[in-house]
Amino acid sequence: MVTEGEVCNVHLMTEEEKYDLLKNVINDYERKESNLIQILHMAQTIFGFLPTEVQQFIAEEMGLTVSKVNSVLTFYSFFSTKPKGEYTISVCLGTACYVRGGKEVLNKLKEELGIDVGQTTEDKKYSLTVMRCIGSCGLAPAMTINGKVYKQVNPNKIKRILGTLK
Ligand code: FES
Repeated sequence: MVTEGEVCNVHLMTEEEKYDLLKNVINDYERKESNLIQILHMAQTIFGFLPTEVQQFIAEEMGLTVSKVNSVLTFYSFFSTKPKGEYTISVCLGTACYVRGGKEVLNKLKEELGIDVGQTTEDKKYSLTVMRCIGSCGLAPAMTINGKVYKQVNPNKIKRILGTLK
């Protein structure tokens, strides 16, 4: 089973390799429509956002219509059909991270960046997303910035972490 933790190096992949990985993800989920949300999550982790071509690929592979795929992803604010900013910050809201303060970390990021989940700052520098477990539960709460994992984060560390990106 391909996990989100395994797709941390997607920034090193070619487009073709990304589509191969997405195909493996869809195979893992046995093309079940009930798994569409998980597949869209993984696709967004791989591509950074969900452009029409990726939606078409998922629809074809799963035997669904593009409008079905599109209606699901537009329903949830954490999916984005637009390119992300220079830095994509993803906060884990899996169970372990959630109970150890992931939501507070997310709220601090929203406050600092002035954007909501699924949005990009006007200067195109930061995008904010949420994700599920990335396998770092022992050091929760976790977040990633362009695939790099930050463990045991808390609201007081956010300003400093953002400062290292400038
Ligand atoms: S729940 Fe966040 S890393 Fe597992």
